[in-house]
Amino acid sequence: MSSQGPCSCCQNETDQQKMERIGQIIEDYRHKEGNLIQILHMAQGIYGYLPMELMEFISDRLGKPLSEVHGVATFYSFFSTKPRGENTIRVCLGTACYVRGGRKIVERLQDILGIEVGETTQDQKFTLEVMRCIGACGLAPAITINDRVYKQVNPEKLQTIIEKYY
Ligand code: FES
Repeated sequence: MSSQGPCSCCQNETDQQKMERIGQIIEDYRHKEGNLIQILHMAQGIYGYLPMELMEFISDRLGKPLSEVHGVATFYSFFSTKPRGENTIRVCLGTACYVRGGRKIVERLQDILGIEVGETTQDQKFTLEVMRCIGACGLAPAITINDRVYKQVNPEKLQTIIEKYY
C-alpha cells in the first residue's frame, strides 16, 4: 500500500519556493482574526513541519514575537516542529489496548523501526506515536497507520504490516 508521493513539481520545489508561498499566505491572512493558527496550519501543510527558521520567518513577516509563534506551535499537538514521516503509526494505549499488550506493540515497533515514540525514522518513512482510545476496544490491541485501523494486532505480525508501506 505505498503512497503515490508528490507530483514532480512539488517534489522539486525548493525550501525557498515553499517559503515564498508561505509568505504570500501571510500577506493574505495578515488582517484576519486568529490568523496565527491558520497560518501555522497552512505553513505546516506546505513545508511538512514547522522548523525554527520557518517560525522565525512567520514571526518576522507577521510582526509577532517569536515567543508567541513558538508558543502556539508547541502548544497544539497537531503542529510538529520536527520533520514527520511519510506514514504515521499510532499505537493505542487506552485501557483495553494497554492491558492486551499495547506496550509490547510499542516496544516491538521501536525495535523494528529503531526509533523511540515521538521520533521519525531516518529515511522519513515512519513517525511513531501513541494515542488514546479510538473505540476499537473490543478488538484490542489496536494501532493505526495513517487513516487505516489495524485491530487485534499480533506483535509478531508487525514486520509484515510495516513492509506494506515500503
Ligand atoms: S483502548 Fe484501544 S481502542 Fe479502546
